[in-house]
Amino acid sequence: MRRPVVAGNWKMNLLQSEAEDLVKQLIDQKELTRNVDIVLAPPFTALAIVRKLVHGSGIQLAGQNIYFESNGAWTGEISAAMLRDSGCKYVILGHSERRSYFHEDDVLINKKIKAALNDELHVIFCVGETLEQREQNETREIVESQLKFGLEGLATSDLEKLIIAYEPVWAIGTGKNATPEQAQEVHHFIRAFLETTFGKSTAESIRIQYGGSVNQGNSKSLMAQKDIDGALVGSASLNAESFIGIINSTA
Ligand code: PGA
Repeated sequence: MRRPVVAGNWKMNLLQSEAEDLVKQLIDQKELTRNVDIVLAPPFTALAIVRKLVHGSGIQLAGQNIYFESNGAWTGEISAAMLRDSGCKYVILGHSERRSYFHEDDVLINKKIKAALNDELHVIFCVGETLEQREQNETREIVESQLKFGLEGLATSDLEKLIIAYEPVWAIGTGKNATPEQAQEVHHFIRAFLETTFGKSTAESIRIQYGGSVNQGNSKSLMAQKDIDGALVGSASLNAESFIGIINSTA
């Protein structure tokens, strides 16, 4: 049985006082982490306050990015060790906003994944096709190549520290989510790829989240799919009621 994992990707949102308000509402719900792993990915500036608040609650922290170098003259960048030092267990890598707005390619993402794993960070690795690619029937090809290059050079044991997030780009922040069947089809494809590359037991134990306009209304039917093991949530994670609703529908 894979334990579901719901992550809230706050992106470039929430000042420290707003983060505090939101997290207090989450930790008020004592049973929240009973059947689901919960991960919060605040902006770097709110990590310290969130870390303090979630202490002892079972909620884990993630960073939204790292650079692959371990230290040095890289103005504006953050290393894997710095995220760990700030209390993070996870980092989100390969997000479509990083790929498109910041021109991160598969080679760079692969380096970042390796740097994260080297420093004992767990990785939420995002893959997904654009609308144009889906309409051209290229979804499988694109997702396969993102997985192949992103995971290149990883050992089977590294996959224990990995969560895959399937996020169709056309569904992110658009209010258009994939249907449960569309999502399940790609999740199944991803698991089959992992089985071929890393073996059956790795493929069966790895968690694959769905992301893209997940909300309280659609999460239950998405989470009911066989190969969907949780959600990577953007906008709906900024509101305690909707994020708690998603978590409860997953559990
Ligand atoms: P969304 O974002 O839930 O706002 O669509 C998801 C994500 O980008 O991880």
